Amino acid sequence: MTIIITGGAGFIGSHVVRLFVNKYPDYRIINLDALTYAGNLENLRDIETKDNYIFEKVNLLDTADLERVFSQYSPDGVIHLAAESHVDRSIVSPMDFVYTNVVGTVNLLNAAKTAWAGNFEGKRFYHVSTDEVYGALGDTGLFTETTPYDPNSPYSASKAASDHFVRAYGETYHMPVVVTNCSNNYGPNHFPEKLIPLFINNIITKKPLPVYGDGLYTRDWLFVKDHATAIDLVFHKGKDSETYNIGGFNEWKNIDLVKLLCKQMDEKLGRAPGESEQLITYVKDRPGHDRRYAIDASKINKELGWKPSVTFEEGLSQTIDWYLENTEWLEHVTSGAYQQYYEQQYAVK
Ligand code: NAD
Ligand code: TYD
Repeated sequence: MTIIITGGAGFIGSHVVRLFVNKYPDYRIINLDALTYAGNLENLRDIETKDNYIFEKVNLLDTADLERVFSQYSPDGVIHLAAESHVDRSIVSPMDFVYTNVVGTVNLLNAAKTAWAGNFEGKRFYHVSTDEVYGALGDTGLFTETTPYDPNSPYSASKAASDHFVRAYGETYHMPVVVTNCSNNYGPNHFPEKLIPLFINNIITKKPLPVYGDGLYTRDWLFVKDHATAIDLVFHKGKDSETYNIGGFNEWKNIDLVKLLCKQMDEKLGRAPGESEQLITYVKDRPGHDRRYAIDASKINKELGWKPSVTFEEGLSQTIDWYLENTEWLEHVTSGAYQQYYEQQYAVK
C-alpha cells in the first residue's frame, strides 16, 4: 500500500507519518509538504532514513506537481492534513487560508480523481478537519457529527469549505472519502505560536503570558499521539462517506489550563510555587473569539473502540518534558534556523 500524507512536516502530520512509517514497514509513505513556516523536517529526523519513507516538497497549489506525484507513486490512499492552521494568522491574512485550505484541497481531490480514474477499489481519501467548523457552544452541550456547520473565523470557514468539497466529491463522483473533526491538539513538535507551546516557551524565557480577553474561553484538549492513533484507526476501519468526531473528553478554561501549566513548570524548573503565574497578562481579545468548543467523541468510541490514552495532566507533563529536553528544536524554530534544514539535509538539486 502506498499512502500520500500531506502536511507531514507539520505538528500533527509528523506524528501521523512517524506512526505509519514505524507501524507499517510494508507500506510506502510519501510525505507531501510545501514546507511553509509551519513545516519542519527536523520533526522527522528519527525516521527520515527509513526505506518506506519518501519526502516530496510539493505545494498543493501547484497542480502539475501534484499530478506528477500521483502518477509517479500511484497511491492507494491519501491522508490530508496540510493546511494553514492558525486562527490569528487567518484574521490577518484570510486569502492564504482560502488558497491552501480550499483551493489546495480541491486540487488534491482532483489529482486523486484523475489518478484513480473512476476505479476506486481499495482507494481512500481521508480529510483531517477540526471541530472549529461547528462554531461556538454556550455553557452546555457538545458538538456531534450532525451539529450544523457555523464557522466564525476565516480559518474555520476555510476548513468548513474544504470539508464540503470532500463530501461533495464523495456524493458526486463516488470517491471513497472519510472526514474527521478533531478538537485542539497539544504535544511535542507544536509550533510555538499556539497557546500551549507559546506559553511553555515564554515561561522558560520568563516572558509575559498573553491571555486573550477574560481567559474564560474553553477548549477540549487532546494529546497529539492519541489523534494519530485515531487517524490510523479511521483510515483502516472507518466507513466511507462518514464523519467521525475526535476529542479528548477534556475541557479546560484557558486561565485554568495556564495556571496548571505554570504549576507543573515551576516544579520542573525548580522555581518557587506561584512564580510563573506572575507572568500572566490579560491582553485584548481575539476578534470573533469562539467561547467554547467541546466534542462528543462517542461515535468513534462505540464504532471503532478509540479513546484517549493519557490524562491531560500526564500528557501536559510529557509535553513540557519534551520542550525542556529539546531546547535545540525550540531555538531553531524561534530563530527560523529550521528552515535551512531542508537545503542541508536534502541538498536540493
Ligand atoms: P501545522 O500548521 O502544524 O502544519 C501544517 C503543514 O501543512 C505544514 O507542514 C505546512 O508546511 C503544510 N502546508 C501548508 N500549506 C501547504 C501547501 N499549500 N501545500 C503543501 N503543504 C502545505 O498544522 P497542524 O496543527 O499539524 O494541523 C494539521 C491538520 O489538522 C490541519 O488540517 C488542521 O486544520 C487540522 N487540525 C488541527 C488541530 C490542532 O489543534 N492543531 C485540531 C484539529 C484539526
Ligand atoms: P490556539 O492555540 O490559537 O487554538 P484555537 O484558537 O484554534 O483554539 O488558542 C487556544 C485558546 O487560547 C483560544 O481560546 C485562544 C487562546 N489564546 C490566548 O489566550 N493567548 C494566546 O497567545 C493564544 C495563541 C491563544
